Amino acid sequence: MNAQQDAPVDSWRGLPAAQQPTWPDEQALGGVLSDLAAAPPLVFAGECDQLRSRLASVARGDAFLLQGGDCAETFDAVSADQVRDKVKTLLQMAAVLTYATSVPVVKIGRIAGQYSKPRSQPTERRDGAELPVYRGDAVNGLEFTAKSRTPDPERLKRMYHASAATLNIVRAFTTGGYADLRQVHDWNQDFVASSPVGERYERLAREIDRALAFLQACGAQPREFRSTEFFSSHEALILDYEAALTRRDSRTGQWYDVSGHMIWIGERTRQLDGAHIEFASKVRNPIAVKLGPNVTADEALALIDRLDPDQEPGRLSFITRMGAGRVRDVLPGLVEKVTASGAQIAWICDPMHGNTFTAPSGHKTRRFDDVLDEVRGFFEVHRELGTHPGGIHVELTGEDVTECVGGGADIRLDDLAHRYESACDPRLNRYQSLDLAFQVAELYQDRIVTRDLPRPATELLAAD
Ligand code: PEP
Ligand code: CO
Repeated sequence: MNAQQDAPVDSWRGLPAAQQPTWPDEQALGGVLSDLAAAPPLVFAGECDQLRSRLASVARGDAFLLQGGDCAETFDAVSADQVRDKVKTLLQMAAVLTYATSVPVVKIGRIAGQYSKPRSQPTERRDGAELPVYRGDAVNGLEFTAKSRTPDPERLKRMYHASAATLNIVRAFTTGGYADLRQVHDWNQDFVASSPVGERYERLAREIDRALAFLQACGAQPREFRSTEFFSSHEALILDYEAALTRRDSRTGQWYDVSGHMIWIGERTRQLDGAHIEFASKVRNPIAVKLGPNVTADEALALIDRLDPDQEPGRLSFITRMGAGRVRDVLPGLVEKVTASGAQIAWICDPMHGNTFTAPSGHKTRRFDDVLDEVRGFFEVHRELGTHPGGIHVELTGEDVTECVGGGADIRLDDLAHRYESACDPRLNRYQSLDLAFQVAELYQDRIVTRDLPRPATELLAAD
């Protein structure tokens, strides 16, 4: 791969770019960006292509996507234990979902690059003092002091190194034998045994147990049991960083953003004539766009024109985040018009961002029941229309935090202060995440979600 130079991916420069930091020292920024432009890629173009082909299966209805991780990663949390526990939680969820959906589950972390945040206000006031808002560890610090809140471009380099370290742990964990499916299933059985509502999940856990025992008895030792594909993703927010990590693929001459396998454009930066969509249109990575309840079908169609003009399955995913109260009203018209256009989009449900509220204690939180209800609404809409509910996108952690209320362990509003550690939005903790996976699995078992029997394996292989 060549370092980025006079790239066609520079066409975003000069267009309005929302949510960019104001760096105090342009020269320092320039130095950092040229170092990054010379740095090795974090991911490889071939891996991005692999993910695109997996997402094509999602778009066609032959696979399900599980995407999850922190709202905002922090440099302090780059430890082997924290990364491992997050990936472990995702793998546990994926095992349950694979069994329930009977299709492969594509696993993508909000990980190894999720260090910058769009904000609704440029500044924050506390006790009469006003300072720039925290924009993620890539930009400034969470601590409420003038020094910490001043954007520092050196942080972009720390973001690169933190992403590299995280990816290294993820790769070791997912391919080094630790994440063997039988091991993952054992962890799930521990969860069922220890959860206050575990009884409810016992039947499903037993069925999975029997399926695994059957395969073992048959002598099946598939490679997929011992290692698993796992991809990285983050919001492509700070365009200077993303552009500095864009390289031309020596095999094909195409441009890839090698900061992560999939990048997404957020609800606040998806303006059709803005810099973010222009940038995304020029790189070959799989792209996702977040769509909130005010999106129009025409906007969605225009996004397809810009980002997926060849209507290539796997290229574009829409991550809808409507809120539990709106999903059943807003989603049908959108899915209907997009489907009628012939585009093959992977539809993903983010049941987090439309369901945030502030607790009396001042903590930003979400109710587990609202999260589950939005997922349920998403499935209902797709069942009604005969389209594929492609997957879920959640904010979660492997830690035992108290940031969202409800779930099997019944965290209450009063409990939020115990362990509220998110640098930004509230995440499902480990138990709530597994609760969600088991309950989504139940939606399948209760036929709230119906799908045709999976296509024969031979046909699936041919389609890949
Ligand atoms: C996020 O995913 O953390 C986020 C900010 O989402 P959205 O763009 O959907 O608001
Ligand atoms: Co968030």
